[in-house]
Amino acid sequence: MGLGAPAGAARAVAARSTYVLVHNTSEVVTPDPEGRRLQRIARGAIAFRDGRVLEIGPGSELARRHVDARPINAAGRLVTPGLVDCHTHMIFGGHRALEFQRRLRGEDYAAIATAAPATPAAGGIRSTVAATAAERDEALEKSLAGRLERWRAGGCTTVEVKSGYGLRPAHEIRLLELMRGAAQRVPVRVHRTALLLHALPEDYAHRRGAYLDVLCDETLPEIRRAGLATSVDAFCETVAFSVEECRRLLTRARELGFAVRLHADQLTRGGGARLAAELSALSADHLECANEEDWQALAAAGTVGVLLPAAALTLGQRLPHATMLRRSGARVAIATDFNPGTAPAQSLVECVALAARMCGLDAEEALLAVTWNAAKALGAEAECGHLNPGAWGDAVVWECETLEELPYWMPAVRPDTVFVRGADLALPTIERRVWP
Ligand code: NIG
Ligand code: FE
Repeated sequence: MGLGAPAGAARAVAARSTYVLVHNTSEVVTPDPEGRRLQRIARGAIAFRDGRVLEIGPGSELARRHVDARPINAAGRLVTPGLVDCHTHMIFGGHRALEFQRRLRGEDYAAIATAAPATPAAGGIRSTVAATAAERDEALEKSLAGRLERWRAGGCTTVEVKSGYGLRPAHEIRLLELMRGAAQRVPVRVHRTALLLHALPEDYAHRRGAYLDVLCDETLPEIRRAGLATSVDAFCETVAFSVEECRRLLTRARELGFAVRLHADQLTRGGGARLAAELSALSADHLECANEEDWQALAAAGTVGVLLPAAALTLGQRLPHATMLRRSGARVAIATDFNPGTAPAQSLVECVALAARMCGLDAEEALLAVTWNAAKALGAEAECGHLNPGAWGDAVVWECETLEELPYWMPAVRPDTVFVRGADLALPTIERRVWP
């Protein structure tokens, strides 16, 4: 996980995170201690001490109690917890802008994904696997660190990163190791997920069971031994892996002590959400084709349903409507799904703005979806996704006054200050690409 290493910016976090009072806010908004609704404290304040939240409450009261704290004036702005992007595929080489053009001209995502490699119809996950394998380790690690900085500048203090563009076990392990390296360079909390069933390597085309054997008997135990990931994911879809194949991998992962998650019911309704519920997965993600019973099954299992509006929009799909989500009682998160194929989406707040429009979640539901519920999708709600005492001091002062502005503006509202472990580090300037 990030923030573990004594390197660079992370060391600065430790040095500066002592005793701070953020005051003169328009409001402090945070999920309550059960994570069910938001508390909105008008003209609130937050005291951070030793990297954690010490107290939240009315500014006038906290100013009296924390006279020794270093004051930080929020200048009448909105303060929320640091956002949690609970679903990204941030480590990859190349891009698929040309494939995107092909799809705009009528080619089908699933057909491209399943076309034989090196044929004119080819593309999809396997083309990114080739581009990722061609990148040097340092280049991949540097690009991931740069992306994590971009996410922090956009208000995300916890980010999940999946492997999945390695495919071959040694390549998946390489990606997980590079993630660990990148996370040590950036003051962002990184959750590493091993996405082991993403696409089938060519040489296993007629030996699907043998691929599962290797993953279950060798790869998973090795990842566990090396502490390279905390959760395991799979792509349950007609163009990827069956319910039975995903069940086999994730059951083995659970036996080894991993949390499990699932890409479910994205392109077709194939039983993915039900499988996630059956396995008490932390989350079922996508769900564009899931129905109300599927959402009820997730609610009953306590599995978070993760909406990925950028992927749905890119593939021309709809999101489930908020009225149905509310009826189901399931917890809903929103994430970027940042990946080169279906979601080249580099801002979680933009995805909040999309989800509001595509699905009908209101500002309070949307904030819950990128704080507490997203943290729960990572099994991390004890430490992030809210500002209750004891949580990590991860918070954002936004360049706006009211919560309702977060899903409203497009392009999205930007952070003025991002606190990580109670420290207000300078935000990175995201360099523009310079054309040669
Ligand atoms: O979450 N669904 C599977 N994985 C990615 C897309 C993969 C790709 O096309 O590169 C997703 O949408
Ligand atoms: Fe995904």
